Amino acid sequence: MTTDERVFELESTVRTWDDQYYHPIAEPLYDRAVSDMLRAMEVDPNETVLDAGCGPGVHSIRIARAGHRVCAADISERMLSHASERVAAAGLSDQVVFKREDLTNLSFASESFRHVFSWGVIIHIREVERALSELARVVQPGGTLGLYVINKTALDHGIETLARAASRKPLAGMQHLPLGDGVWYEMDGERLWVWRFDIPALSNHLAQYGLKLKYRRIGEFSEIQRRVRGMPRRALLRMNNLAYRARIPAWAGVGNLLVFTRRS
Ligand SMILES: C[S@@+](CC[C@H](N)C(=O)[O-])C[C@H]1O[C@@H](n2cnc3c(N)ncnc32)[C@H](O)[C@@H]1O
Repeated sequence: MTTDERVFELESTVRTWDDQYYHPIAEPLYDRAVSDMLRAMEVDPNETVLDAGCGPGVHSIRIARAGHRVCAADISERMLSHASERVAAAGLSDQVVFKREDLTNLSFASESFRHVFSWGVIIHIREVERALSELARVVQPGGTLGLYVINKTALDHGIETLARAASRKPLAGMQHLPLGDGVWYEMDGERLWVWRFDIPALSNHLAQYGLKLKYRRIGEFSEIQRRVRGMPRRALLRMNNLAYRARIPAWAGVGNLLVFTRRS
C-alpha cells in the first residue's frame, strides 16, 4: 500500500465522511443528484454501471435501487467491506458485485462498460491523468462517464481564503497544476490529496479520449457545513438542497456533476 492509499484504510476516515456528508438533510440532494446523473448518462434498466471508487457503497445502493446492476470497485479493502455490508443490509446483494481495483491501473479489458460512474474519487488521486486515461479506456464507444468533482471556481474557496487570511492561517502547499489546484491535507496522521478542478481544462483533457462534456450541473453548493454544527449546519445543508433544485450556475458550486459521452 502506498502512503497515498493509507488514509482510505482508516476506520476513522469512513466515520468522518459519514458524519460530514451523509447527514439526513443532505440525503434528498444525493438521491436527486444520483438519479439526475443516471438519467443524463442514459443508463437503461438492468444495465451494469461501474461505480469506480465506490467507498462505503452509498451511491452503489442508489444505483442498484434505480434498477441497475453495479460493479462496485475501490482500492480500499476497508471501504469495500463497508460497502458490501451496507449493500447487504439494503437487500441489494443480488445486483452488486465488488472488486478491489486501482483506478490508475484497472484490471478490466478496454471498453468493458457502457457506463462508468465515479463520485468524489478522482479528486483524491494525485496521478489523476492516469486515472482519467484508465476510466476513458474502459468506457465503450457511445457510452458515458459520469464524474462528481470539486470545482476550482466555487464561491466556497473565496470565502475560505478570506476566512484564513482573517485568522492568519493561510492554506499552505497549494499546487497550481494544468488540471486545477491541489493540496495535501492531513487526516488522522495520514495524507489526503484534494483536487479543485479547472472544469474546462478537465473537459479539454478528456476530449483527447473522444469524451465530450454533455451535462454539467451544480452538486453541493457549499461544503462549509462540514465545519459547523447545530442550527448553522442544518441551515447550510438546506441551502445546498435549494441551490441544487434551483440549478444555481455550476461555476459557483463546490461540487459539480459532469457527464461525458464517448464518441461512437
Ligand atoms: C470520498 S470517497 C468517495 C466514495 C463514494 N464514491 C462516495 O461518494 O461515497 C473516495 C473513495 O475513492 C477511493 N479511491 C481513492 N483512490 C483510489 C484509486 N486509486 N483507485 C480506486 N479507488 C480509489 C477511496 O478508497 C475512497 O473510497
